[in-house]
Amino acid sequence: MPTIHHHIATLQETLKPLRQQQSIALVPTMGNLHQGHLELVRLARQHADIVVVSIFVNPTQFGVGEDFDSYPRTLDEDIAKLTSIGVDYVFAPSISEIYPVLPPPTLVMAGAIATQLCGQSRPTHFDGVGIVVAKLFNIIQPDSAIFGQKDYQQLAIIKQLVRDLSYPIEIIGAPIVRADDGLALSSRNQYLTDNERQIAPSLQAQLKLLASQLMEAKPEQKVFESLIAKTKKHMTEIGFDVDYLEVKTAELTDLSDIHLASDSSNTKSQQLVILVAARLGRARLLDNQLLTIKSTPQ
Ligand code: PAF
Repeated sequence: MPTIHHHIATLQETLKPLRQQQSIALVPTMGNLHQGHLELVRLARQHADIVVVSIFVNPTQFGVGEDFDSYPRTLDEDIAKLTSIGVDYVFAPSISEIYPVLPPPTLVMAGAIATQLCGQSRPTHFDGVGIVVAKLFNIIQPDSAIFGQKDYQQLAIIKQLVRDLSYPIEIIGAPIVRADDGLALSSRNQYLTDNERQIAPSLQAQLKLLASQLMEAKPEQKVFESLIAKTKKHMTEIGFDVDYLEVKTAELTDLSDIHLASDSSNTKSQQLVILVAARLGRARLLDNQLLTIKSTPQ
């Protein structure tokens, strides 16, 4: 069973002598752990001697009217799952332990990368993620930290945070874990009704279809926009309320004719990512799909 710490000071006292000899990996979570989280832990194990999992439903990353109050809190079940896969420490602090003053007057803002995509409908979300992750990094001082690629924008923001604030931490992105029918695992999937759960996997199916269409299409902005619009319309017909469906470079910069044209003038390939956020009933589902546009010389 992992040792559970609720306080920063005791966790730090415990980790201090250990870090002389052993490497530490952090898996930050908001709890309600599923198979996707357990994969993050397995990856952490491969990278470090000691695995710390933090469980903290972070109030600053929820907007007004979002599901902070109803977000599932299942600490006992989470600890049982972590015991079964061998985690060393769980850090489960209270809100006041993390935030002596709430909202915290000190901000960690990520700029343009955070105002697009999810940042459009959740304008304060990534500021909350930024401050809590910065605090967890400072508290635990891990050698590596593992984040899921399902939250693609979050992962990109964390990599930027580590670069810009010079954290000596390796950030490891873990592949998306899916149910057998393709639905990306998420704690929020439990908000789906039985009927919605049947529909939900078509989000990934549509992403895969769009990816194959983009790979075959002429790499032109107009052509791409039309394929994206068709997919969005189709998703809406299926029953999704699409928040966004966008294609970006893998670094989350905008696609432009320059990107696409410069690519088509040589044999280089370009990695792109399709990102979607869509509501289905009470659940807001996120997914993404990487693709490589290969172009032939003209
Ligand atoms: O991805 C999450 O669960 C959260 O955003 C994180 C990284 C644990 C910060 O609260």
